[in-house]
Amino acid sequence: MARSQRGVRRGNVAAADVCLFRGPLTAPLVGPSILSADFTRLGAEVRDVVRSGADYIHVDIMDGHFVPNLSMGPAICAAVRRAAPRVWIDVHLMIGNPRDFIDPFVRAGANNITFHLEVERKPRALLRRIKESGLTAGIAIKPKTPWTALAPVLDEADLFLVMSVEPGFGGQAFMRSSLPKVRAIRTRCGPLRRVEMDGGIAPDTAVACRDAGCDTLVAGAHVFGATNRRAAIASIRGARGIRGR
Ligand code: DX5
Ligand code: ZN
Repeated sequence: MARSQRGVRRGNVAAADVCLFRGPLTAPLVGPSILSADFTRLGAEVRDVVRSGADYIHVDIMDGHFVPNLSMGPAICAAVRRAAPRVWIDVHLMIGNPRDFIDPFVRAGANNITFHLEVERKPRALLRRIKESGLTAGIAIKPKTPWTALAPVLDEADLFLVMSVEPGFGGQAFMRSSLPKVRAIRTRCGPLRRVEMDGGIAPDTAVACRDAGCDTLVAGAHVFGATNRRAAIASIRGARGIRGR
């Protein structure tokens, strides 16, 4: 995967040959979460948000144990890959045993895999393993986990996912307590790694996220529920670029 962002075409992501989650960025990335898509027509939904300007697709994997909900597995990730062969796929594992599911999601066409710090005793080794598979590697923290828990992996992860809701469901209210954590991580991880927020992202909360230094924004309900998805994605991305660095 090339490190350069050259060649990223808004609304028609050339992700197959561009590494979206590593290296410099000039504008925030917006990734619709298919948790809020119409599953009866998933392929059309994915293609529609990509046509509407999505930079990547966020795939939420839940096990009914780490979070109180079940969602989807590698077969759905593979279906997204078939529906949009060139789109960047960001897999968010909300499961208790992420180690067991790296290979299935690599085979299913994921570009990035993020797992939760709370469930992994050797996060550094798992980040390395994901990267050795040719993907970028992310690590996530729940709202009650302090950012300092990430200190040992600040130089290893490509992406830090700061949850702005308790993971498990789409459509929840944004928790502002996540913003200082983003600021602290951004200051320490530098501009070449992604800081992603997930949960309750809409145009107003996205402003606060970007100002805190977040460059990668997941949005489910707000994008898939919008009448004008192009406008929804553009308003989450904002016009001012990435602040807080
Ligand atoms: C929550 C998931 C999120 C969710 C976001 O556990 O990780 O990705 O789909 O949905 P919204 O944007 O509706 O809060
Ligand atoms: Zn998510």
